[in-house]
Amino acid sequence: VLNRLQAQNTGEPNYDESKVPAYTLPNVLKTVTNRQVRNKATWEQLRRPEIIKLFEDNVYGQMPKAFDRLTYSIKRENISAMAGKATLKEVLIEVVHDQKRLAINLVLFVPTKPKGPVPVFLLINNRGKENTDPIRAHKSDFWPAEMVIDSGYAIAAFHVSDLAPDDTVSYVNGVLRLYPEQVTAPNGMRAIGAWAWGASRVLDYFEKDPSIDAKKVAIVGHSRGGKAALWAAAEDQRFAMCFSNCSGNTGAALSRRRFGETIRRINTVFPHWFAKNYKKFNNNEDLLPVDQHMLLAAIAPRPLYVTNASKDLWADPTGTYLSLKNASSVYALYKLGSNLPANPPAINQPIINSSLGYHNREGEHNLTAYDWNSFLKFADVYLKSR
Ligand code: GCU
Repeated sequence: VLNRLQAQNTGEPNYDESKVPAYTLPNVLKTVTNRQVRNKATWEQLRRPEIIKLFEDNVYGQMPKAFDRLTYSIKRENISAMAGKATLKEVLIEVVHDQKRLAINLVLFVPTKPKGPVPVFLLINNRGKENTDPIRAHKSDFWPAEMVIDSGYAIAAFHVSDLAPDDTVSYVNGVLRLYPEQVTAPNGMRAIGAWAWGASRVLDYFEKDPSIDAKKVAIVGHSRGGKAALWAAAEDQRFAMCFSNCSGNTGAALSRRRFGETIRRINTVFPHWFAKNYKKFNNNEDLLPVDQHMLLAAIAPRPLYVTNASKDLWADPTGTYLSLKNASSVYALYKLGSNLPANPPAINQPIINSSLGYHNREGEHNLTAYDWNSFLKFADVYLKSR
């Protein structure tokens, strides 16, 4: 205990499993009035909305649902992109609210001559814009568009800076201009909430694009983008599937373990990511009415795939797997996820045959071809065949 307190006071991250404190997770299947959830109906009508509200009020902030209008225009279309394998669309999505306007730039590739509307992978791009180059002069494994097109899926991306620049000061210069009350509210959304909000607006667009099967949209994010992907999928049940890569603290990893990154550290270095209320839980994890397994559970029964990288201890691979395992009691209400093993699989052994998929890839914190290759296998099972 002394070691942990010392570690917290000096801000040194703990990487020693023996120093993980004893903790009790909030029971995902017990309502705030202490009612045990035994079936889907109670989960969907009572407990799930409760959990979403707890995350809104204490962690990510509210998700504004209302806006005056959403329009879109195709800025550029190339029906013979990727040497004829795909159609490129560069779409400008505009959201107007209270006479203020927000532009989201979407890059979308759709396979040529599909048999009908196709499922799509949507990446929340939190890295360089060159990763999603529409011209394909720059290619990167962070968004391997050719590989996804060759597998028969559409692939799309938007950049987080359209919604909220990833900066402690300028994060307000995006969607928060449309909802200024969010900036001052203790439970107002900030950058991560804004990115998730943007993903839902792209889904609004997909519902109007006849080449896309909007019932089969997989949301993908890496790290801070992976936190936003989970929040988007939890908040917006239209997302059919979620891939959260190396999302770590306030993503897929359990906060109470205080292994690697902590709530205090994330709130200090990235004060613009989460609701103001979240700061109450700096060095105070046990008081949080949620832990991250409840966020994963809120995605049930939709297939969810979570990853780690073996050298990325900052994102707590063990705590991530435990989080997934603890979400499985909710998937079990739908008779899903029961085949998730009790212990984390070996490195480079993806679990594909469960609605709760997982791998711990060998290597560093990143989104790589290995990760995407596993995503495609998982999607082939749960998205393509349906
Ligand atoms: C930092 C941050 C993490 C985040 C990561 C990333 O390391 O502490 O929470 O996930 O950046 O986005 O790559």
